[in-house]
Amino acid sequence: MQSTFSPITFNKTEIKLLNQTLLPRIEEYEVYSDYLDMTDAIKKLKVRGAPLIGIAAAYGISAALNTHSASSLIELLEFYKKLRFAFYQTRPTAKNLFYALDRLDKVVENPNISSVDQLRESIEAEAIQIHKEDELSCLKIAENAANTLFNKKDNYTFLTHCNTGSLATGGIGTALGIIKYLHNQGKNIHVYVDETRPLLQGARLTAWELHKERIPYTLITDNMAAQIMKNHHIDAVVVGADRITKNGDSANKIGTFQLAIVASYFNVPFYIVAPKTTFDTSLITGDEIEIEIRDDLEVTRFNGIESAPIRSKSENYAFDVTPNNLISGIVTEDGVYFSPYKFCDK
Ligand code: MRU
Repeated sequence: MQSTFSPITFNKTEIKLLNQTLLPRIEEYEVYSDYLDMTDAIKKLKVRGAPLIGIAAAYGISAALNTHSASSLIELLEFYKKLRFAFYQTRPTAKNLFYALDRLDKVVENPNISSVDQLRESIEAEAIQIHKEDELSCLKIAENAANTLFNKKDNYTFLTHCNTGSLATGGIGTALGIIKYLHNQGKNIHVYVDETRPLLQGARLTAWELHKERIPYTLITDNMAAQIMKNHHIDAVVVGADRITKNGDSANKIGTFQLAIVASYFNVPFYIVAPKTTFDTSLITGDEIEIEIRDDLEVTRFNGIESAPIRSKSENYAFDVTPNNLISGIVTEDGVYFSPYKFCDK
């Protein structure tokens, strides 16, 4: 099973991105060659979702190295450091970004690389490989979930938050990938989609993907989740993650934590779905995760129009951390993990 579209394509010096801030009204691809424009695209969420941020950074660095004229390997390596720093600073929470940068660092540190061309080719190959591996991980995640968690019946109703589909990954998606996979198996699937305030990744992006795939869904505002779980049978809440610590605490889009609390109240299984590139085993608990804080205007405005009195004070945490005791299982490409979570380096 393959994704029906790709939000990112790369050809040596250029990256083509589907501008996600314009969806669902406008499907517009933009071409990037300048690395500062690419870092800006990541910060503005034109390209977003933990795994896709890592892929975009790797391609951004590769395109910049391929276009930068350098007379020596030392000069190109200096430029790499500058690029790395620029991408490192884009978004703090998704581990996948730092995973991708670490992978490129390993290439750069390879003592066998002795020329400018060799460095460019090796970085390019690594960036493409990171993308391919994520595509494969998405598929394995979906297979694992379909074979172990969702193999007992033909009808499943899910509730999901944010966007974890092809718009967020290098493949079919993580939590949304499972949903697409089960639908593709011929099961009757229905999805309740949280709109995901403040930037509406659920309403704008997940609903757009489900519509494209012809998977039945119902859009709800984030604060309806309890009422929905009270009135309808929900088989499971499935969401993604931006960073998972050693003990299983999982950072994901703001609102995930309260969704987990509601799911626990109603005894609805709550699954985190993520590739191993999202795991950060250098952190013991979720308290150590840096949570991105974004511009207040994302909260005080709706679609660019003031929705609160001007100069209202607001807080805009982009993510929250769901503690491990609220997580029924963590689905990865290696299998499904259950409590007690004790993740360690491979
Ligand atoms: O701010 P975003 O849109 O990048 O946040 C995305 C999420 O929180 C996703 O749930 C997460 O990155 C997992 S994507 C497979």
